[in-house]
Amino acid sequence: MSDVTPAMLIAEARKAARNAYAPYSGFGVGAAVLLTDGTIVTGANFENASYGLSLCAETVALATVSAQGRLRDVAEIGVIGGLIGPDGPAGTTPVSPCGRCRQVINEAAQLGDRDLPVHCGAAEGDAITTYRLSELLPAAFGPKDLI
Ligand code: THU
Repeated sequence: MSDVTPAMLIAEARKAARNAYAPYSGFGVGAAVLLTDGTIVTGANFENASYGLSLCAETVALATVSAQGRLRDVAEIGVIGGLIGPDGPAGTTPVSPCGRCRQVINEAAQLGDRDLPVHCGAAEGDAITTYRLSELLPAAFGPKDLI
């Protein structure tokens, strides 16, 4: 495994959130996905004028991981978010993944057979709350149900 700490993953998520495309909500989110070899893949939310087409940061990051053929290798996830101010996303309230993202994270979790740690942080401050995916999405439906 790697020496990447939750705080390092949150720092990468914060960097990613600076590239959030969120002109409609004004809420920037960044996600950082740690792979088993220490690689970190990031994503930011990607909104659309047709609001319902917007993509969350976690989904963007995990789609990128999948495009790299690495969905089975996801080890941990960090996410942050906050209302975008003059210097980017701000605030000290931790963000946890929305329901749809929990289901998307579950795809990686079941493929890799891991109860993934999800580190939830804020745009600013040191607070990090870590959940296991099974806490965020108990009794999940996933790829294991289709074999
Ligand atoms: N958002 C995420 O990127 N991830 C989440 O888990 C929660 C919500 C985004 C979607 C939208 O662009 C903005 O945050 C406000 O909901």
